[in-house]
Amino acid sequence: EGDQQPPSNKWSFAGPFGKFDRGSLQRGLKVYKEVCSNCHSLNYIAFRNLADPGGPGYSVAQAAAFAADYKIKDGPNDAGDMFERPGRTADYFPSPFPNEQAAAAANGGKAPPDLSLITKARSYERGFPQFIFDFFTQFQEQGPNYVDAILQGFEDKPPEGVTVPEGTYYNKYFPGHAIKMPKPLSDGQVTYDDGSPATVAQYAHDVTTFLMWTAEPHMEARKRLGLQVFVFLILFAFLMYFTKKKVWADSH
Ligand code: HEM
Repeated sequence: EGDQQPPSNKWSFAGPFGKFDRGSLQRGLKVYKEVCSNCHSLNYIAFRNLADPGGPGYSVAQAAAFAADYKIKDGPNDAGDMFERPGRTADYFPSPFPNEQAAAAANGGKAPPDLSLITKARSYERGFPQFIFDFFTQFQEQGPNYVDAILQGFEDKPPEGVTVPEGTYYNKYFPGHAIKMPKPLSDGQVTYDDGSPATVAQYAHDVTTFLMWTAEPHMEARKRLGLQVFVFLILFAFLMYFTKKKVWADSH
């Protein structure tokens, strides 16, 4: 039977005017920290990035306070020992496991993938000719739609007659349906302090928005520049048109 297509969502970052929803980024960071980071690394993001323009909108002091909550392995010191110290803004998010083997061993033989670029990785797996079609429609949203769907696609009871191997979990949207990630989210699990609903759907939306930002932290600047380029090109085209008319005015 065919895999279910992830539903399309409304994303604040979609389209040429798209921007990240700051509230959603901040809540998504909290979901990542409290839930996903128990198993998944985020290797390409440093704490300082939390204060970068176009991101979750924290100040440098807030990013530093956030970093200080983490214990970072460092060393060797002068005595040759490794030690732990509080995180600094220059540190990257620490991995939950010391290496790939340990990560796999703790997760039934499959290491949880790094999440930094996961919303991009998934965009490319729809194959030909969907790939071409996506390019003109909502290419950018395929990855986020998939991640959002997979987080909500767990079912306690697989459909009649379907069984999944020991150590795997049934998921409507995962290719093959047997995923080694246990259902990570449930209602009420993460406390939001801005009154947003504490539901799986909201958690999934927020953490996916956050992971879209980790995959493309300069998206807002890119789209802004793209628009400026278009405005310039349109004005320039008019300018060239009238210049041409003038230059060639009596040449017939
Ligand atoms: C795989 C996201 C929490 C363990 C994945 C994948 C995504 C993801 C997008 C890739 C699925 C694919 O290959 O198509 C998340 C998010 C989480 C979260 C956003 C937090 C809300 C967890 C937790 C655990 C975990 C808490 C461990 C208890 C795994 C494992 C895989 C995986 C083992 C590999 C699954 C497989 O290929 O069979 N996760 N995850 N994840 N995750 Fe998570």
